[in-house]
Amino acid sequence: MTLPTLKDAGNLVGKRVLLRLDLDAPVENGVPRDTHRIDSAKKTLAYLREQGAKTIIIGHIGRDPNESLAPVFVYLKTLISVMFVKTTAEAQEKSASLEDGTFLLIENLRRFPGEVTNDPVFAKELASLGDLFVNEAFAVSHREHASIVGVPRLLPSFAGLVFEEEVKNLSKAFSPEHPALVILGGAKFETKTPLIERFLGIADDIYVCGALANDIYKARGYETGVSLVSSCEIGPVIFENPKIHVPSDVIAHSPSGSSVRGMDAVEKDEKIVDAGPNGLDDIRALAEKAKFVLWNGPLGEYETGFDAGTIALAQMLAECDAETIIGGGDSLAVVSKLGLNERFSFVSTGGGAMLEFLANETLPGIDALLKKN
Ligand code: 3PG
Repeated sequence: MTLPTLKDAGNLVGKRVLLRLDLDAPVENGVPRDTHRIDSAKKTLAYLREQGAKTIIIGHIGRDPNESLAPVFVYLKTLISVMFVKTTAEAQEKSASLEDGTFLLIENLRRFPGEVTNDPVFAKELASLGDLFVNEAFAVSHREHASIVGVPRLLPSFAGLVFEEEVKNLSKAFSPEHPALVILGGAKFETKTPLIERFLGIADDIYVCGALANDIYKARGYETGVSLVSSCEIGPVIFENPKIHVPSDVIAHSPSGSSVRGMDAVEKDEKIVDAGPNGLDDIRALAEKAKFVLWNGPLGEYETGFDAGTIALAQMLAECDAETIIGGGDSLAVVSKLGLNERFSFVSTGGGAMLEFLANETLPGIDALLKKN
């Protein structure tokens, strides 16, 4: 796939660049807690500054339309010379006096109802702010929102430098070195089925963990107690497939405490919350022989404190010799906390977008840049 990229955009001196960024960082006590996504755009910001562009940054944060990008603005100010405005009208007015090489940030796009509905009027309003558009928001490019698919219909449009790297690196998963291992955690089996089906034809092994593994246990007839399971039906093509692995033991939790259980020994009142020690050995054996590893999603309920498996997996993959590509908000939170980001071959900014790209080899935001829709 050959995307038009920022470097193809020509002379940018004095040009108004409408830049869609991934600013969706978790905020704690008014401060962005994990800045991986914002930091990954530093090279694009530096490029636009050096090129003398007048850059209008747009982005969203969270799903609550009342959330504000103010904490992100405070962080961005440590990186670039930037103003903050609340409305597109204010952006229009202020951008007229923007100096070359400086930036303006508009408040959370999801405060504008036309963003998520991809309202053509709102897309036009956004497009009127730029001479050209750059999508540097891979992580939200699976959404058919105005700033992702509406604007590229109206302006010369380019992929950002990080966006280009995402597509290049994630595409390696389509023809990996073998043995290739895919590790898939998290929940909502129904959203992962297309990806699993696709990678059964590509990878040598697929290790299914987190709440997704509960669905496999259930389909194989094991007791899953009060564990989180999906409502979807899983066919034998998946649950009986020899390429599909699940942890051979688990940590099961009940009001009386947590215990290591074989997958055939979970009690009715127990909840599976993490992989057990044998499950970790299973995955280590697969990772040690693999030449390519793709990982998305936590091994256990890391958000409620059952993070030992996910931490052990992150450390294991950081040590392994294979090419390692990882992504997904929860896995990344653990990796960042451990300071291991640099130890992987590629860390995707995408969660859902990474999975959707891997399943379909494209995204609505990519098709929009390629003017396919
Ligand atoms: C993400 O965090 O995956 C992206 O920012 C997209 O967010 P959304 O799932 O709220 O659309």
